[in-house]
Amino acid sequence: MSTPLLHARGVRKHFGRLEVLKGIDLTVERGQVCCLLGPSGSGKSTFLRCINHLEKVDGGRLTVDGELVGYRQQGSRLHELRESEVAERRRDIGMVFQRFNLFPHMTAEENVMEAPVQVAGVPRAQARETAHALLERVGLGDKVRGYPAELSGGQQQRVAIARALAMKPKLMLFDEPTSALDPELVGDVLDVMRQLAEDGMTMVVVTHETGFAREVGDTAVFMDEGVVVEAGDPRRVLTDPEQDRTRAFLSKVL
Ligand SMILES: Nc1ncnc2c1ncn2[C@@H]1O[C@H](COP(=O)(O)OP(=O)(O)O)[C@@H](O)[C@H]1O
Ligand SMILES: [Mg+2]
Repeated sequence: MSTPLLHARGVRKHFGRLEVLKGIDLTVERGQVCCLLGPSGSGKSTFLRCINHLEKVDGGRLTVDGELVGYRQQGSRLHELRESEVAERRRDIGMVFQRFNLFPHMTAEENVMEAPVQVAGVPRAQARETAHALLERVGLGDKVRGYPAELSGGQQQRVAIARALAMKPKLMLFDEPTSALDPELVGDVLDVMRQLAEDGMTMVVVTHETGFAREVGDTAVFMDEGVVVEAGDPRRVLTDPEQDRTRAFLSKVL
């Protein structure tokens, strides 16, 4: 049996006295798309941030492609890695945020080139060539010289996706990638994500787009108050949930 690409067992996280994640179990196999749904405040973003170690976990363990992201195991104890070592492992994980977070003073191509050049030491000419191919792939071949302020929200988000792909991640995390977009711009971003899934990318997508989850997701996971309430085939979880809490949530977002 091959190692799951993402494996979370009993992940716990609290902020002060607030327990935000109360033991999250989640497995995502290579090439699969896991859609994460749940009410605001249920811990979805915190969980994504734990996956790439933007947050330290307080308990449990999390591996990406069989490797702990922020820790090294010695005997039965986990030791946190140095920031440089964490950065090295984080390269395997691309993240796309609700608010694109592009560098405003850089063009689309410069945004996409930045990490390969600065972090991975790729020569500029080569990074530029890759950036153009990636921008082409997300439908922005004609916007390579555009600045974020000159692009629509949907275009900016597609640049952000290209930027994340530039580091050739094994896993892509999306945190409500279409929530900040005008409705007519959502489709183009979802199309890019659908294509990415078809190309075999492993993805965890926090989204309220149940249509996308049903069509593209291999699993749907419903979270509430820091626990996984139910998980399974999106067509079942999203149309005929077993749990009342899932049903109540769906009746609000659908
Ligand atoms: N850095 C932080 N410090 C304190 N509380 C936080 C922090 N980040 C998130 N929280 C709290 O954790 C809970 C879960 O937040 P979050 O993971 O953002 O939920 P979701 O993404 O599902 O809306 C919320 O109550 C939020 O206020
Ligand atoms: Mg969130």
